[in-house]
Amino acid sequence: MPLSVLGIETSCDETAAAVVRLGGARPEILANIVLSQTGEHAPFGGVVPEIAARAHVAAIDRVVEKAMAEAGIGFEELSAVAATAGPGLIGGLIVALMTGRAIAAVHDLPLVAVNHLEGHALSVRLVEEVAFPYLLLLVSGGHCQLLRVYGPGAYRRLGTTIDDAAGEAFDKTAKLLGLTQPGGPAIEAAAARGNPRAFQFPRPLLGRDGADFSFAGLKTAVANAVRDLGRAPSQGESEDIAASFQAAIIDCIADRTQNALRLFGAGPGGARPALVAAGGVAANRAIRSRLERLAEKAGFDFKAPPIPLCTDNAAMIAWAGIERIRAGHAETSEPIARPRWPLDELRAGEGLRHAPGAKGPKA
Ligand code: KG4
Ligand code: ZN
Repeated sequence: MPLSVLGIETSCDETAAAVVRLGGARPEILANIVLSQTGEHAPFGGVVPEIAARAHVAAIDRVVEKAMAEAGIGFEELSAVAATAGPGLIGGLIVALMTGRAIAAVHDLPLVAVNHLEGHALSVRLVEEVAFPYLLLLVSGGHCQLLRVYGPGAYRRLGTTIDDAAGEAFDKTAKLLGLTQPGGPAIEAAAARGNPRAFQFPRPLLGRDGADFSFAGLKTAVANAVRDLGRAPSQGESEDIAASFQAAIIDCIADRTQNALRLFGAGPGGARPALVAAGGVAANRAIRSRLERLAEKAGFDFKAPPIPLCTDNAAMIAWAGIERIRAGHAETSEPIARPRWPLDELRAGEGLRHAPGAKGPKA
């Protein structure tokens, strides 16, 4: 029985809807519509929750209609609706859930409440076969974590950020340099033209045990460097700061990931394990190539979704819904919006409380 799922994502500043079908061995993305609100938040230098919620309400019906039309299927052909229920901005989450609930009620379909982080965590499997367990580096605007992924609903965290997320550091650096938001792509482009050794920025936690991250000191050092110039940086200075910042953050990410590769150990039965990168920051080509080299050295395969599936989208939400349905834990009882919803309820060293694949820790 093929599974066709409509995914709805509105947890931050993208209004997105997608249809994913699993008929044969591999899933197909029938439609993947992402409407970015970047322009609406630009005058404020960051995402304004109230503006985001209103913009989602105004756009969501149109975005869902467009996804269904592009997929070329009717609502009656869907198997389920999957909506992001958290973590994220409460106003946006309510839009996804209410829209999903209304469509599910009218067409008598189950509604699967999806954790946005699980969407990122499983996104790579939408495009290629990657066996569980794998080591996941989840790097986005709100999160920076290293996790052991056992399967849908079963995660163990090996490390997390003790202050800022990596994406946040990119966004704040871009803001200091007067570049456009989201900052990641702007910094990546500027860095490609700059000298990564022009500024000596700190690499917090480098060489220390464990797999936690810290970026606050790096962010402050960039702010100080800009302040010390005593004026707006020239284009050349801006490119040098961007390149030096990116080199520092890549060193931090690589160092922490290297420790996690060691903590992860070998794959089951000696199989070659995979290091997977996902989330918006995983769209960065310089980060991807550094991680690829690191994985290769440690005897891991490196996998990352194609760039449009790294940043927020609804195809990954539909796919996480399918993974949950297949694993038999797509519980659909009255989902609620959860602004905070950690992926793991487990910590490194605590051991799995639920067997992978069973109705497990959802976090
Ligand atoms: O996953 P995502 O779209 O949204 C969240 O769940 O947070 O991630 C957004 C973050 C933003 O901070 C953005 O600046 C960053 O991902 N990002 C990048 C790149 N593209 C997006 N960071 C570095 N390099 C990029 N090319
Ligand atoms: Zn995201």
